Amino acid sequence: MDLKLVFWTAAILDLLVVCVFAIRGVGYARRGEIARHKQSMKIGSLLICAFLVSYVFKVFFLGREDMSVWTTLDVWVLRIHEMFVLQMLLGGSVAWIQGRKLLATRLVTHDPTDPMPHPKTLQIHKIAGRAGVIGAVLAFTMAIGILLGMFLRAF
Ligand code: HEM
Repeated sequence: MDLKLVFWTAAILDLLVVCVFAIRGVGYARRGEIARHKQSMKIGSLLICAFLVSYVFKVFFLGREDMSVWTTLDVWVLRIHEMFVLQMLLGGSVAWIQGRKLLATRLVTHDPTDPMPHPKTLQIHKIAGRAGVIGAVLAFTMAIGILLGMFLRAF
């Protein structure tokens, strides 16, 4: 099989695992299991970083895709997918930055002598976090179509 196809198959599996950890992470947050929530989101974020690094290597060693043979629909699906990836990255980054501000609060430490979280921080964290997780799931959904197109063109 073409090495680029191997790369993109591994990438979609990586994104699937990211989605699983992100959704589990939301579940933990809703149950108040914040240590597990943080751990799940950390693993998801590390998997995204691993993909970004591997993508740089892919472009360097295997080159870019030849999009001149793609249909207009395929290109549109790719562009929409990229928008959701951006949503995932921006939402996840903002959530992470706001999440760091929650670390010293009693919501995370469970110590009543620690300060209460700032409501604005909490609100931004939740909204950005949800946007990031939704972005990841939609990016994965669109990626299925992109990969299917790649396989159909290859065989
Ligand atoms: C330093 C890392 C993080 C910490 C300490 C943290 C902490 C928290 C806490 C304390 C809550 C519960 C808020 C409440 O009880 O109202 C929460 C909720 C949430 N967090 Fe995080 N978080 C972190 C990272 C992230 C990341 C990276 C994301 C997303 C990419 C994320 C997404 C969410 C979401 C979506 C919720 C709301 C769940 C819901 O009620 O629907 N968090 N987080």
